[in-house]
Amino acid sequence: MFAKGYHDLGTPAPREAGTNNPVSPSITLEIDGTSVTVAEGTSVMRAAAVASRDIPKLCATDSLKAFGSCRLCLVEIDGRRGFPASCTTLVAEGMKVRTESPKLTELRRNVMELYVSDHPLDCVTCPANGHCELQDMAERLDITSTRYGLAGSNHHHGELDKSNPYFQFDQSLCIVCSRCVRACDEVQGTFALTVQGRGFHSQVVASAHEPFVDSECVSCGQCVETCPTGALVENSVIRVGAAERATKTTCAYCGVGCSFEVEMKGDQVVRMAPDRNGHANHGHACVKGRFAFGYATHRDRVLKPMVRAKISDPWREVTWEEAIDRTAREFTRLRDKYGAGAIGGITSSRCTNEETFLVQKLVRAAFGTNNVDTCARVCHSPTGYGLKSTIGESAGTQAFDSVEKADAIIVVGANPTEAHPVFASRLKQRLRQGARLIVIDPRTIGLVRSPHIAADVHLQLRPGTNVAVINALAHVVVTEGLTRDDYVRDRCEADSYAKWKKFIAEPRNSPEATESMTGVPAALVRSAARLYATVPNGAIYYGLGVTEHSQGTTMVMGIANLAMATGNLGREGVGVSPLRGQNNVQGSCDMGSFPHEFSGYRHVSDDAVRGAFEAKWGVSLKAEPGLRIPNMFDAALDGTFKGLYVQGEDIAQSDPNTHHVTEALSAMECVVVQDLFLNETAKYAHIFLPGSSFLEKDGTFTNAERRIGRVRKVMEPRAGFQDWEVTMLIANALGYPMRYRHPSDIMDEIASLTPTFAGVSYEKLDRLGSVQWPCNDKAPEGTPTMHVETFVRGKGKFFVTEYVPTTEHTTSEYPLLLTTGRILSQYNVGAQTRRTDNVIWSSEDLLEIHPHDADVRGIKDGDWVGITSRVGSTVLRAEVTDRIQMGVVYTTFHFPESGANVVTTENSDWATNCPEYKVTAVEAIRVAHPDEWRARHESSLRHTTTA
Ligand code: SF4
Ligand code: SF4
Ligand code: SF4
Ligand code: FES
Repeated sequence: MFAKGYHDLGTPAPREAGTNNPVSPSITLEIDGTSVTVAEGTSVMRAAAVASRDIPKLCATDSLKAFGSCRLCLVEIDGRRGFPASCTTLVAEGMKVRTESPKLTELRRNVMELYVSDHPLDCVTCPANGHCELQDMAERLDITSTRYGLAGSNHHHGELDKSNPYFQFDQSLCIVCSRCVRACDEVQGTFALTVQGRGFHSQVVASAHEPFVDSECVSCGQCVETCPTGALVENSVIRVGAAERATKTTCAYCGVGCSFEVEMKGDQVVRMAPDRNGHANHGHACVKGRFAFGYATHRDRVLKPMVRAKISDPWREVTWEEAIDRTAREFTRLRDKYGAGAIGGITSSRCTNEETFLVQKLVRAAFGTNNVDTCARVCHSPTGYGLKSTIGESAGTQAFDSVEKADAIIVVGANPTEAHPVFASRLKQRLRQGARLIVIDPRTIGLVRSPHIAADVHLQLRPGTNVAVINALAHVVVTEGLTRDDYVRDRCEADSYAKWKKFIAEPRNSPEATESMTGVPAALVRSAARLYATVPNGAIYYGLGVTEHSQGTTMVMGIANLAMATGNLGREGVGVSPLRGQNNVQGSCDMGSFPHEFSGYRHVSDDAVRGAFEAKWGVSLKAEPGLRIPNMFDAALDGTFKGLYVQGEDIAQSDPNTHHVTEALSAMECVVVQDLFLNETAKYAHIFLPGSSFLEKDGTFTNAERRIGRVRKVMEPRAGFQDWEVTMLIANALGYPMRYRHPSDIMDEIASLTPTFAGVSYEKLDRLGSVQWPCNDKAPEGTPTMHVETFVRGKGKFFVTEYVPTTEHTTSEYPLLLTTGRILSQYNVGAQTRRTDNVIWSSEDLLEIHPHDADVRGIKDGDWVGITSRVGSTVLRAEVTDRIQMGVVYTTFHFPESGANVVTTENSDWATNCPEYKVTAVEAIRVAHPDEWRARHESSLRHTTTA
């Protein structure tokens, strides 16, 4: 077996009550004659492990509180009677402990014999063989048989629950140590498991003794990870067998950026084991990262390049040489005929930093234009603009660990339990310790009420009124004297503060004045503001519910204003943290994917910066910003934009107003799509270049906390090339030389050109595991918390955040507001997760509608509902629920069949063009024949594609 590289110390390190700060070592004791000094509150088991004396254990593990049930960890302590359990006994000054003695061995052997007498002795065929702690302990104590015999009552025929697609639960192998139950409670926070019955009859059950798949379980796999026997085991382990090697990598799903050990046998993934040394996830994971990796080897993967003259022609498979040659010839032709401004590229927030950097380099240096943009345009571009303007850096201010020190937490426009599940579990741990919670969301998201969690305040605003709500919160803070004027005086621009304060104090911004617009009772706004502003540490976490609005940037500025005014920036426990949707949204923005910026957010018009790139790249570069994605579409329809290279992004499904997007794509002469699957955008492509999954490549991703983590290749690229190699081939075919031997060469170039990355290298990432940028001479090991002494821009700047209602409003024709979001089991446009067993939890987008709105329209749960907006229509199945408020409907956009973005409008953020996905006025009607609606939706798309 491979070494897992993690030394489990048995019980968690003690923390200072209320603060979660580590406790300094102060207690010295002797363990087997060796002196060791540890923190007060440390268990004897942990102290022994620190002194390299690993005491036998089964029910203990250092990610869970000590439980003391297995009695295997007994020790002898001078002056104490009996044999205390070392996991539940705390150290004391001068204590003398013996971890081994003939008596202890006898007692431990007795315990093990009892376990073994009720355990099927077929280790050789057990899927846990080789990584079973029960087996290890039996070997360590030399138990090969049992004096108690095997004939008595036993659990050998316990239930076998195979209902979950990813793991099974075999009661016959369960020793009822309760580690799974505690993992589900303490780490995941779902409380899905309990021990039912007593004594011999006690057993672990899911929910009210239901099959796992029908229970409250959300399939995070933490119980599987912690089970010390083969009772809970992954189906992939059963299917593939024991792993031969393990490689660390970073999850390719959401912006939490969990670190995993990919366990492999040959070229097959045995399992994705959450990395206990992972800085973002500390050994935890969610159903997507943990289990939904099957898309990488799905039969739908396109493994051969393909070309066609017209999008109505069938695809023709070609060699890589032909595909690359054709790509280069087409872009050269278009550039020669129409000019460099007629072509461009889109980078992907799913690809690595290195791949993204190369695509923008290809566009700027080889195409000769700044027409490069990224899918972050449609999600977090307002974050970049809003935070850069106010505090000076386009990124979140904290590490995830910071939440452990927050006293009041605002979650606004984000649904972490669905979209950022591992962070949500950390957040819930802190809430269970007593931190207070304010949720600002049109829906009753999971955090509002879940086991042992209840939001103190839920501001259930009407979609589109974010800015009015943040202004009202700030109004209370300012008018009730809750600002931290000393902090602001030291750290912010006085003029901008005075101007903002005057504006925000105006009565029109009060909770009472805005109540009728926002739908939020003024008293709730007042109590939320007081709560956030008066605790020692107030933290704000936000998501796309903040950014995807016509005032997305204003709202981000409003959040930064509120945090500055209350002194909640620049230390642990506070901050402004955007929860990024895709795995590398942060990275794709950092790498210079926007048309106006080079890597590190430096404007293309800055002569010194541009000069550095020109010198390194050996070409002259344009000083004017290029086209953003929506401008590319408009220009295509105007006949001035002709060719697009899209890497790893499905713009036809993910961008708003699908008709407009597909019309624009249809109007181009050459669309090159590089992806794993023949996605919706590929329907409008002339050249298809197969992509490589994260398992097939080397590189780095940057998560929502600016953490750069390594992606490591565990299998050969199935189509022959990693994505960065394909971009390099295109550049070379265009006559612009790119000669990288490995992505580490690309990172070296990034570091040489980007001050915030100057200290980043693969050697450092391998050594430290990951680093958070800025990483340079000033911060050689990275920067967990930003803006500590001063803001990156020097003085923080307040912006006046006038609330301007969206032009998208309800009318008698479109009386409902549609808003969109995500669900746990699916990811983004679903290209990956739809090709995994995750579909058993969600196989279609549903339309959530309030019982009253459903009732007046004669809509019942499960009915087909036609949705019509000013720009399009589609059909979805209804879910009648009071999670959503009256007058608002909600859906996800994971399935192309429903095409939720067919109805979203082209409204966008005033500063960044980020689409206003979150507010669309619609009408919903019950539909008897969904196929007619579907046909209508599809034919309208077909019509636009052939027009
Ligand atoms: S998979 Fe996760 S949610 Fe489900 S029972 Fe196990 S720990 Fe709980
Ligand atoms: S399933 Fe595993 S972790 Fe849970 S009680 Fe049984 S042996 Fe312990
Ligand atoms: S929380 Fe996000 S990064 Fe972590 S395993 Fe899940 S999808 Fe992957
Ligand atoms: S490890 Fe201490 S009682 Fe189980």
